[in-house]
Amino acid sequence: MADHRNFEVPRDYALPLQDRLQRPLRDLRISVTDRCNLRCTYCMPREVFDDNHPHLARNALLTFEEIERLARLFVSLGVNKIRLTGGEPLLRRGIERLVEKLARLQTPDGAAPEIALTTNAVLLARKAQALKDAGLNRVTVSLDGLSDATFRRMSDSDVPVSAVLAGIEAAQAAGLKPVKVNMVVKRGVNEHEIAAMAAHFRHSGIVLRFIEYMDVGSSNGWRMDDVVPAREILDRIAKSFPLQQLDANYSGEVAERWRYADGGGEIGVIASVTQAFCHACSRARLSTDGKLHNCLFASDGLDLRGPLRDGAGDGTLANLIADSWSKRDDRYSQLRHTASAGTHSKVEMFYIGG
Ligand code: GTP
Ligand code: 5AD
Ligand code: SF4
Ligand code: SF4
Repeated sequence: MADHRNFEVPRDYALPLQDRLQRPLRDLRISVTDRCNLRCTYCMPREVFDDNHPHLARNALLTFEEIERLARLFVSLGVNKIRLTGGEPLLRRGIERLVEKLARLQTPDGAAPEIALTTNAVLLARKAQALKDAGLNRVTVSLDGLSDATFRRMSDSDVPVSAVLAGIEAAQAAGLKPVKVNMVVKRGVNEHEIAAMAAHFRHSGIVLRFIEYMDVGSSNGWRMDDVVPAREILDRIAKSFPLQQLDANYSGEVAERWRYADGGGEIGVIASVTQAFCHACSRARLSTDGKLHNCLFASDGLDLRGPLRDGAGDGTLANLIADSWSKRDDRYSQLRHTASAGTHSKVEMFYIGG
């Protein structure tokens, strides 16, 4: 076994860390569980992820203390936003305890990193206030349709849409703002609800974002024909509600922002397939079992749990992370349609964090 207790001295890094394409490390997504209470066809299709599907063993998961320690190092290396994901993060018992730990971290300039969470909101109505009290800043809710029939087709579950809407309301009431709603659009499956979703969330203060269905993982049987391009989505909405484009909130933002011309609020489109945004991608992902993935489409990650549990010091761990980022040249979405994107196997999104 490698002795990670050597080489404790952290190198002097120029912050923010930059990868080979001069992209800074700013954003860390942490997957806290590989379990989910839905079975969205584009993410965990039931044919593959049935009741017999093996989940990670309990001791394979990073503990909250381990996550906190790694998160602290990432923050010391320039990360200023942490997003908890899954699977469904609210299925991880005591998640608010983790939020509390993360909310206490400090960036090198003494600020608190922003803490966000992506959830399907099935359990949010009962957890929103505790999450807010623990220091969570905001939530993003996945919701792919407004009718129970469409929601069932997308999520392959009998959960009523009203449960998700109750979660969204609870988040707003608790002040987890701005609440964002993500709708993955699949051709012929839920595209007919684009206008209804837009109408429903206008004037609510909620930012609805439409996402192009992506070829993540190796289970969802993705085809380009299933993608509804962001441009088409915007054209359809603009027929009922004229739109004006807004500037990005920050460099590297994935969503293109638009506002209703009549003051009805903001929407966004995430065009990861038709207009790749790899050029400014500042996101690292930590999997449920402690692997560092520098791209959503990477086939393997760098194991941080092993060294962590072998007693590696902070300097060693920071060096591992920094080395990995400095060698990073991933830009899968940009290369998707070229030969070099290849047909390599990709990890599943619920495992490394959407
Ligand atoms: P905020 O700006 O903090 O609200 O979050 P975000 O825009 O980064 O959004 P969020 O985490 O909600 O991501 C929305 C969706 O965009 C994800 O569910 C993915 O479908 C897609 N996405 C996010 N990050 C990436 C990325 O790094 N690469 C690709 N290809 N898609 C991404
Ligand atoms: N394409 C696009 N987005 C996806 N997500 C998961 N799988 C896909 C996919 N194949 C995103 C959705 C969901 C979040 C948890 O992950 O935005 O809301
Ligand atoms: Fe669960 Fe989210 Fe994946 Fe749907 S997209 S199966 S809610 S992790
Ligand atoms: Fe970042 Fe990879 Fe997504 Fe490109 S494909 S935006 S490099 S995670």
